[in-house]
Amino acid sequence: MEGIGILLGAFLGGNGQMNPEESEHMARQMERAILEELGKAVGQKVAEHALNPQNAGSLTDPDGEATLSGICEDTVRIQLRLQGDRIQEIRFMTNGCAATVACSSMVTVLAQGATIKEALGIDGKRVIEALGGLPIEHTHCADLAANALKAALRNALEIRNEPWKRLYRSRNL
Ligand code: FES
Repeated sequence: MEGIGILLGAFLGGNGQMNPEESEHMARQMERAILEELGKAVGQKVAEHALNPQNAGSLTDPDGEATLSGICEDTVRIQLRLQGDRIQEIRFMTNGCAATVACSSMVTVLAQGATIKEALGIDGKRVIEALGGLPIEHTHCADLAANALKAALRNALEIRNEPWKRLYRSRNL
């Protein structure tokens, strides 16, 4: 919520009505209020991951990556680095809805530190369970995130067998 703090500081702090501590305090209150309201609509865990996603971003030269689009044409990219048989690091990017942000975030949390076999077993249902539920119209967001993870793992395994394939990756997110 640093962004809200900066905005409030610029908006209110500049005319002397609110100092940085006050604007930071107000930002935290706003964050809590947003989280509470969103939590009522979609569940607390979904709201937390949508507003404060884990492992968002990119990896330089990952061992495996995949970019998938779902039935709604939203896209998720998963990148991961392996250490032996385990996922050592994982990141996601998406241009999708808030539910997709939450699902992608949860997929990375579930996969971080897991073995390849364990991570290949993560499906949309598992993601929804971990999030404590998801509105029915967004179940495809969980499938998209889980399928992107599987595709990134398949890519990592392919590259292990045929390292030259690393050269032919497209980067479009
Ligand atoms: Fe399509 Fe979320 S991925 S609405």
